[in-house]
Amino acid sequence: MRGRDKARLTRAVVTVGALSLLALTGCSRQHIPQDTFHAAGPEAAKEAGLYWFVFWIAAAVFVLVEGLLIVALVRFRHRPGRGVPTQVHGNKRLEIMWTIAPALLLLGVAFPTVINIFSIARRPTGNVLEIQVVGHQWWWEVHYPSLRVTTANEIHIPVGRPVYVSLTSGPSGSVGSGVIHSFWVPGLAGKQDLEPGHTNHLTIEADHAGVFLGQCAEYCGTSHANMRFRVMAQPTPAFDAWVKQQHQPGAMPNGEAMAALQQVGCGNCHTITGVQGLGGTVGPDLTHFGSRTTFAGAILVNTGQNLSAWLRDPQAVKPGNDMTIGPGGKPGRSALTDDQIRALVAYLESLK
Ligand code: CUA
Repeated sequence: MRGRDKARLTRAVVTVGALSLLALTGCSRQHIPQDTFHAAGPEAAKEAGLYWFVFWIAAAVFVLVEGLLIVALVRFRHRPGRGVPTQVHGNKRLEIMWTIAPALLLLGVAFPTVINIFSIARRPTGNVLEIQVVGHQWWWEVHYPSLRVTTANEIHIPVGRPVYVSLTSGPSGSVGSGVIHSFWVPGLAGKQDLEPGHTNHLTIEADHAGVFLGQCAEYCGTSHANMRFRVMAQPTPAFDAWVKQQHQPGAMPNGEAMAALQQVGCGNCHTITGVQGLGGTVGPDLTHFGSRTTFAGAILVNTGQNLSAWLRDPQAVKPGNDMTIGPGGKPGRSALTDDQIRALVAYLESLK
């Protein structure tokens, strides 16, 4: 090898090595609450188990094939005076062997895969909690029909109890019939599509308490990346307390907040149970807004500062969303004064 080629090879090896190291830093186990490899419940465990089963078969095939390739490259490399090695073209025994071996491997992968698919699709039995999730551009509407609870973006579930989730897509201002989303909370299960006019199902179950991050996994428009959600798995007593709290009517606004709510027409889209004029169903139900840890498709932590920024210019936070603060509200300009925003923030945070 000439000196220049050697230098080029060294450069290439160093570059690839450095980039691989950089990529590997992304695999740190810390701070990844959205992690397929840490199954936090039986449904996710089925999926992770299948993943590893297929992975190790694929890894063995990779090592075998690449190993044989390297052996062939080294053993049969060109040398002065050496002729062409023995050719295997048309060798029936070899060809039958390398047709049957992969077919058997594929069968071996197919059996557990199909068994898993049916197992995951099966409706769970026993003490099942049923919830309905409707995907919108770009937030999640959540109903607990048996508990008469409606919320958004944060799904509370009791630990150790299978939750059968019905998934469908609902309209948004820009797309009347809805678009396809995908429900994905890697720690608990997933993914499953939400389709307009059709209901899909998925079971999630957490075997310990915790907050599990989820997100939309099907491109659904400008703010697809801003369509996140959280599953808060709680021990049963805490879950029951949450349900009880959700049954309370919303706190009453003071005069200033009420005037602001009416002026910009919040009630056209939002509901606050118990407050007159706020019965809209286009946007998230705000009756217990203050009890949520996040808002705006779970992309913002629910703080007064973030809420002020949202009310000042929702388009700057989540581009393309349907929230207009009118009349006179335009992207980049809210129809609310600073004082009105202050009053609304105080009121919304009081909606525990
Ligand atoms: Cu909804 Cu992507």
